[in-house]
Amino acid sequence: MRWFRKATTKTWAWSTSGAVVLAIVAMASNRADEPVAPRPDEVAPFMRAKLKHAQEVLEGLSLGEFVMIQRAAQELAIASQASSWQVLQTVEYARQSAEFRRSCESLKNAAREENLDGATLAWMEVTMKCVQCHKYVRGEAGLSPR
Ligand code: HEC
Repeated sequence: MRWFRKATTKTWAWSTSGAVVLAIVAMASNRADEPVAPRPDEVAPFMRAKLKHAQEVLEGLSLGEFVMIQRAAQELAIASQASSWQVLQTVEYARQSAEFRRSCESLKNAAREENLDGATLAWMEVTMKCVQCHKYVRGEAGLSPR
């Protein structure tokens, strides 16, 4: 009888681990179906980086350093396409992001042409887009870009 008990314990152990493996596989495949939402602890440092680039633009404008402006505008445009930027999966959020990117492109172009007034104006446009999107995010989604 002893062998029998041993065998059933083993069988039980195997089927349990089998179930655990199945559960893990099921969880993993479920996750793959979900849209890629950025992890909350990744979002804040990522969003903070915008502020650093914004400061670089202002520095570039103040010093007439066009390369610095171009680089920072490029970083901002690229950031707006990263997955950590896609906090909301709404049409409006996508539209705001696209507009923001367009303003960053105008800023970059004005800096490339060494047009300081044009770049300053484009920067004001970019700033408006920061504020507009944050207003939307705060109002619609109850998120809090402080
Ligand atoms: C298309 C939308 C959008 C635009 C444009 C945008 N942001 Fe944000 N920003 C967000 C979202 C979404 C959050 C995070 C909200 C949350 O999870 O609380 C955020 C958060 C932030 C934060 C707070 C980070 C923290 O400490 O929690 C800062 C700072 C920030 N943004 C700066 C900027 C600056 C500067 C610009 C313009 C150069 C800008 N953002 C443009 C959507 C945007």
